[in-house]
Amino acid sequence: MIEKAELFARGIGQDTDIVSKEMYTLTDRKGTQLAMRPEATASILRAYIENKLFDGSPVRKLFTIGPMFRYERPQKGRRRQFHQIDVEIIGDPGPRSDSELMFMIMHFFSCLGLDELVLNVNSLGCIECRGPFRAKLKGYLQKYAEQLCPDCRTRMETNPLRVFDCKVERCIQVMKDAPTMLDFLCGGCRDHFDAVMIYLRELGIDFVVNSHLMRGLDYYTRTTFEVQTRELGAQNAVAGGGRYDLLMKELGGPDSPAIGFAIGEERIVELLEEQAGLEADGPDIFLAPLGREAEEKAFIWLQQLRKAGLRCEMDYRPAGLKAQMKHGDRLRAKKVLIVGEDELAKATGILRDMFTKSQMEISLENLVNEIIRLKEER
Ligand code: HAM
Repeated sequence: MIEKAELFARGIGQDTDIVSKEMYTLTDRKGTQLAMRPEATASILRAYIENKLFDGSPVRKLFTIGPMFRYERPQKGRRRQFHQIDVEIIGDPGPRSDSELMFMIMHFFSCLGLDELVLNVNSLGCIECRGPFRAKLKGYLQKYAEQLCPDCRTRMETNPLRVFDCKVERCIQVMKDAPTMLDFLCGGCRDHFDAVMIYLRELGIDFVVNSHLMRGLDYYTRTTFEVQTRELGAQNAVAGGGRYDLLMKELGGPDSPAIGFAIGEERIVELLEEQAGLEADGPDIFLAPLGREAEEKAFIWLQQLRKAGLRCEMDYRPAGLKAQMKHGDRLRAKKVLIVGEDELAKATGILRDMFTKSQMEISLENLVNEIIRLKEER
């Protein structure tokens, strides 16, 4: 979770927002600058190189799931600690790997019932074709320098492609007619991009070509993509990725192409909550004892039922039946076991189904087995 800060400065790029504004950095006892990882790709390559994963298999498919940290202004869909599901294919120049990953990501979302998402695809070219494009873009931006925000006036000189990411309205207006990378692709990059699109069509994956999609990280080459929703406001990207054929070498590893993506877990959960009213599952049984003796017994049953794999809850504070039923209801318990003095005397409790509201008697002699039997019968 913690890396040397320079890994991200070299990997993601010093001029990106992620590195220049959003990284949590700290200094260790020896004065080394460390950073909480803002993303996983650079770390995966660092580990790949350190552990010589290039020995043996020429192609490696790796994944990681875990927390990432960015010092951003928290808002809906944007957190300072969030989680990514990150997938990388190292060693294959594509374009099949490119299409495979986009197919995988869209299939995953479709399995979750998220069918309204839009796959945006672009190509950022290679070092050869990006040079002339940068020069052209810089020339264009210089013409409109007066209209750009102060940040973009700096970006225009240091990293003009980043102006595409600016959210300031007047910069967005300037960028509407800006030249795009797609018009500058060299033969190799054009063929690569065409092949990716053909595979996507053959695989039945809908996509839009979005020539303004720059992604917020500097390591990308050729194919980039982002899955967007219309439902989370400004934070509309639920997943993003792309090819980064130069990064491995840049970080001191072999000359190896690679591509990957990361899904933002919290954004997916928010979407699922909005679309399907997703709520946490309640306990299997809420125990509602009435009176001291029943409370003591219920406490032991509670632990035994949990050991048997059931999700159970009870309130240790003595309370009347009405209050306990209310508590069980609030927890969205599936069933409530009611045991008072009368029930203890008869050795039969009352099991109430909270959905159908039906009640049945249940023997207290061998309660745990009895409940397991009932659960298995269903
Ligand atoms: P990214 O676009 O910076 O790409 O992040 C991927 C996803 O993480 C975003 O689409 C979004 O869903 C989620 N995310 C990012 N920042 C936040 C935040 N502050 N709060 C909540 N969710 C957030 C990468 O990180 C690249 N490493 C992806 C990649 C892998 N490219 C190649 N391989």
